[in-house]
Amino acid sequence: MIHVIGDSHCRSFAYNSNFFPIFLGEGKLFNFIDDSNANRVLDKVVGCLEKIQNIETVLFVFGEPDCRWYMGYGWQPWKENVGDVKPATFDIEASVDRYSSFLKSISQRFPNVSFYALSVCPSDRPKQNSLVIELNDLLEQSISAISNVNFISIFDTVTDPESNKVRDEFYGDPVHLSNAVQHPVEDYFIKEERLQKSGFDHQHNWSMHGAMSDFKLNDRFGCYMMNELDKEPIDKSKFTFDLKKESFSHEKIFETLEEYGLVILESFIGSDELVRYNNTFDEIIEGRLKGEYILDRGNETVNLMVLEQGSHELHDSVKHLFETFETDGFRALGKSFFRGEDHFFNKKIFLTQDLVGSTHAAQDLHFDVVPTLKFFLYLSDTSVENGAFTVVPSSHHRTAEIREQYKGEISYENRHLSRPKADPKLEVPIEAKGGALIVFSTELFHKAGVVSRGERRVIRSHSWQTQHRDWAEASTNSVRSKISRLLNKIIK
Ligand SMILES: [Fe+2]
Repeated sequence: MIHVIGDSHCRSFAYNSNFFPIFLGEGKLFNFIDDSNANRVLDKVVGCLEKIQNIETVLFVFGEPDCRWYMGYGWQPWKENVGDVKPATFDIEASVDRYSSFLKSISQRFPNVSFYALSVCPSDRPKQNSLVIELNDLLEQSISAISNVNFISIFDTVTDPESNKVRDEFYGDPVHLSNAVQHPVEDYFIKEERLQKSGFDHQHNWSMHGAMSDFKLNDRFGCYMMNELDKEPIDKSKFTFDLKKESFSHEKIFETLEEYGLVILESFIGSDELVRYNNTFDEIIEGRLKGEYILDRGNETVNLMVLEQGSHELHDSVKHLFETFETDGFRALGKSFFRGEDHFFNKKIFLTQDLVGSTHAAQDLHFDVVPTLKFFLYLSDTSVENGAFTVVPSSHHRTAEIREQYKGEISYENRHLSRPKADPKLEVPIEAKGGALIVFSTELFHKAGVVSRGERRVIRSHSWQTQHRDWAEASTNSVRSKISRLLNKIIK
């Protein structure tokens, strides 16, 4: 039995009794493009290996996302009209160094296991394949110096040298090889006497040997995934910065956002400024300010106002609300967060005043259907008592897996798919003083707080990818129609 561990490419090893494929998560997160992703790979692989008993042979499948990203056309370069996306770094050598360091530390940590790294696979994009060749050559050299790790090269077998494209029989989709790749890999391990005969039968005779409760079978892909998030709640201090004590760095905030899914910036605005924000908030919530930029969506339990910039002229006294988030640092953060894809930045601002008895759908643990970057500005000291919202830090990595599994099925109609379960003890309420700003990815599992005393006042800015424009409108419309149905009922 060979345990195949990696990004989505390990799924080509499905339905073969010789292989136990463990899919760590999407390649956007599990790669060697930067230190934070490389650390994520290391942590998750260590977590897996510690859970598997009597493990003998492990085959790693990584590196393709690195080459795809370094091409400079984003994560889906086969799409029409891909724009140039300048990768923050373009460094095959650095990826190889990180991959090699990972292999070195894993092989030292698990000296009784034999490790193999599979050559990075080709695609039907010759430009990407040139990078793949470069990475494979460097990786092979680098691995030859690491004891207990071997490099398996099948690139030449699966690539047509004339066209420098993947051979037809190995083509799976624009990114992956088909499971025909199991043939050359099995041949290699049979020669090495680590396998006796081919287990490739396409009959879905799935061997459950080695399956255990820490891994769950993903039926769709025939591979296993780690079942658990971290068992202990993540300490808030890991993603909290006090801007009185340290200066703002968008790189550091982005890194933290990537790792934990949110960042708390304490003392983002001072007390005088806070008074000004609260005054504007009152003006709008109490209806003294009017304008087409205000899309009223309040109901009888929550005072909620939505302001939109771009389509209508803003009143001078509300401009500062939008300007709060219009800094170069936050724009750069938005760009990194959306990986350079087109997005609406700071397009809508929501003002919410939750009171005792406020209810809304967001009080169940969920991730948003449309991935959104939100800036939450607390206008008053916020604790559990007055409705601090709650998150499961780092759960956005799990969301990435859920999205990978269900792809287009995640929608407002299928809301159950975006309401995942998590151990309640991993939930962390985001308590902070007025003036704190929370930068937050809605890919995190989160839920709105319930006010038992006092009120909660928050201004939040939303940014999202332009490709989701229709979804966002559908959601606004569905909320609107729900509210008007509710109002009709009340009126009747
Ligand atoms: Fe939400």
